[in-house]
Amino acid sequence: MPTLSSRTDTFTESMIRKMTRIAIDHNAINLSQGFPDFNPPKALLDRLSQVVYENHHQYEVTWGSQKMREALAAKHKHFTGQTIDPDKNIVVTCGSTEAMMAAMMSVCNPGDKVIVFSPFYENYGADAILTSATPIYVPLNPPAFTFDVDQLEAAFHQNPKAIILCNPSNPSGRVFRMDELQVIADFAQKYDTFVIVDEVYEHLVYAPNKHIYFSTLPGMFERTITCNSLSKTYSITGWRLGYIVAPAHIIDVAKKVHDFLTVGAAAPLQEAIVTALQFDDSYYDQLLSIYAEKREVFINGLKRLHLNFTEPEGAYYVMVDVSEFGVTDDIRFCEWMAKEVGVAAVPGSSFFHENIQHYIRFHFAKNVDTLTEALNRLETLRPKALAAKNSHIW
Ligand SMILES: Cc1ncc(COP(=O)(O)O)c(C=O)c1O
Repeated sequence: MPTLSSRTDTFTESMIRKMTRIAIDHNAINLSQGFPDFNPPKALLDRLSQVVYENHHQYEVTWGSQKMREALAAKHKHFTGQTIDPDKNIVVTCGSTEAMMAAMMSVCNPGDKVIVFSPFYENYGADAILTSATPIYVPLNPPAFTFDVDQLEAAFHQNPKAIILCNPSNPSGRVFRMDELQVIADFAQKYDTFVIVDEVYEHLVYAPNKHIYFSTLPGMFERTITCNSLSKTYSITGWRLGYIVAPAHIIDVAKKVHDFLTVGAAAPLQEAIVTALQFDDSYYDQLLSIYAEKREVFINGLKRLHLNFTEPEGAYYVMVDVSEFGVTDDIRFCEWMAKEVGVAAVPGSSFFHENIQHYIRFHFAKNVDTLTEALNRLETLRPKALAAKNSHIW
C-alpha cells in the first residue's frame, strides 16, 4: 500500500472529545466540551420549521446567501459601528472552524510564520500545520493570562505573516483591554502583519469588562480578518454557521478557498438564521445575563471549595490551578477525576505550548442544576485528591 500523508502525524486525538468519551464511560458530568445544554431561541426554531417547506434545498451562493450576508452586515454595523459591504467584506463559512482555516489559507504560504498566544484554542495549532505555517508561541502568563510586551515584540521580530488573537479568549477567559490590543495593533503596523481575530464569544463578556472589536482600532480594519461564529451566540453549535469579515481584497481570496473547501454552508440554515441575526439588543442582554448567572453560580462554588482559579472575564470557561494536589500529569488527573469525583474537565496541557501540567479547564455552559450537581460532586475533590496525592496516579 502507498503511504498516507504525513500531515496529521503530529495530531493527537482531541483531548476534549477524549474527555467527553471518558465522561460518558464513568457517568461523569461533562464540563469538558463547551456547548450549551439548552435550546436555541424559540423564534429561530419556529423559523427553521417554516424554512423546510420553502425552496432552500439546493446550493446557495457559495460565499453565503444574500439575505444572510445583509443581515450579518447590519448586525456588524450595530455592534461595531462599521459599515461593511455584504458583497465584498463577508464570506459565510461552515462554522468559525472553517473561517479560521480559510483565513489561514488565504494569508499564509507554506513556511510562513504565525504568532499564536499560549494557552490557545486547540484548533489553531492544527490549522497552522494543515496550512504548513509555523507557529511562534507567545505565552499568556497565568494566573492573569497577560502577555509580556518584549516577548511579543521578539515574536514579531521573526517576520510573521499573521498573529492569531482569540478575544474573548478560550481557554483563559481573558478579555483583552484597549492598551493590550493597542500594543498588538502597533506591532501589526510596525512589522506589517495580518491580525486574524477569533471573536466567537463577542457577546459573552462579563461586567465591568467590555469587548473591543479589534478591527475598530485605528488603521486595523485593513489588516484584520475577523472569524466569527453563530454557534455560541444562538446556541446552535451543530448548525455549523460562521463567517469571515475582512477587506475586499482578502475576502476575494477567502471566497476562493471557501468555495473549494466546502462550497457553502447549509442553505436552509442560512435562511433560518436571518431571523436570529435580526434580534434586537434584548436578546443579547438576556443571553449575557443567562451566562452571567451560570458564571456566578460556578465561580462562587469554586470559591466555597477554596479551589485556585482565574476568574473569567468572558466566554464560558474557567482555568483551575490544581498544583496543590501535586499534579504533574494533568491527563491522568482528569481521567481520575472523571472516574472518582464524577466531573470531567479538560487537561490544561492541551491548550499550552509550554509543558504546563497543573491547569484543568471547566466550562459552565450548563443549566444551573447541572452546575450545582457538579459543584456538589467537586466537594469530594480535595479530600480524595489529597488522599491520592502520593499514590503516583498523576
Ligand atoms: C475560540 C473558539 N473559536 C472557534 C470555535 C468553533 O466555532 P464553530 O462552532 O463556529 O466552528 C470554538 C468552539 O468551541 C471556540 O471556542
